[in-house]
Amino acid sequence: ERANMALTFDKYKGRLQMLPKERGWITGNLYMYQGFWHQSMRIISIETVMALQDTFKAHPTDIYLATLPKSGTTWLKALVFAIVNRNRYKNNSLSTHPLLISNPHNCLPFIETEIYRHTPTYAKAHSPRLFATHIPYISLPQSILQSNCRLIYLCRNPKDVLVSMFHFANKLRDKSGSLLTFEEAFELFSNGFMPIGPYWDHIKGYHKVSSEHPGKVLFLTYEDMKTDTLNHVKRVAKFLGYPFTEKEETEGAVQEIIRLCSFENLSEVNKHGNLREGIPNDAFFRKGEVGDWTNHLTNEMSQTLDRITREKFHGLDISF
Ligand code: A3P
Repeated sequence: ERANMALTFDKYKGRLQMLPKERGWITGNLYMYQGFWHQSMRIISIETVMALQDTFKAHPTDIYLATLPKSGTTWLKALVFAIVNRNRYKNNSLSTHPLLISNPHNCLPFIETEIYRHTPTYAKAHSPRLFATHIPYISLPQSILQSNCRLIYLCRNPKDVLVSMFHFANKLRDKSGSLLTFEEAFELFSNGFMPIGPYWDHIKGYHKVSSEHPGKVLFLTYEDMKTDTLNHVKRVAKFLGYPFTEKEETEGAVQEIIRLCSFENLSEVNKHGNLREGIPNDAFFRKGEVGDWTNHLTNEMSQTLDRITREKFHGLDISF
């Protein structure tokens, strides 16, 4: 089975040679597919997207979380996992809450990693199945678009995404090679060359479908989530069909979930160890703040990104 899987992916590999190429952030190159740049790393590669497009079957009860890398994926995964499973682990002295012992990426997988599993766990997962993805809206497997499942999109202001990606990429880069300078990262980002970029196009794709089908796609920003976590957690729960009851609210169930999924708690739990994909658990927890870009961008860089963002988001109701 594993050999078959390898063959399947080799089939797609041959097609990469034909595609436009740019310098990668973490390893090798970025390749363009369907208008977006994909990093040549297993979980965010074009072969993976192609294989998913060909084989992935959504269930109508599935829940999907879509993000660009470094937009708060890990936090959203934790929150949604905790919301949907809140009765499974409540008052159950026999089992520790998974988020107290494991990385949110293990609790709620990317479809991009599931497809590489020997026997994909999604095939027998509980209902609703919870999945995340970085795939742009235009490249999502058809069955996700066609089924009735719900999707949450979380985005974050471009400058903080750039800063967060810069640190993350350097942490993961092969130590024998050179690190990216911030100037290089800025150049790549502004030109749209980032893993699953251009940044603006990724957001616009999901923003459009969310305004057309607000019941199917909930559009959120990291900044709003940080400013008013309580109301956003309630909103997410309601959107997913798991609203908090009045009793739960008075008993502080929402606050409990927020605490469980806080940066402080999760970064403590994930101090050591690696994900199956080899990424250190702690790579997903750096500062968890809004506005760290002020410590990295010059005025000129900031103005350039403001201008690009204004132009790209012109006429759209997207603000951070
Ligand atoms: P910083 O690098 O700015 O600190 P992703 O999960 O999409 O990879 O995004 C990672 C970013 O989310 C990092 O941002 C990380 O610190 C932040 N983050 C991780 N867990 C968080 C949490 N529980 N609450 C808020 N932010 C969190």
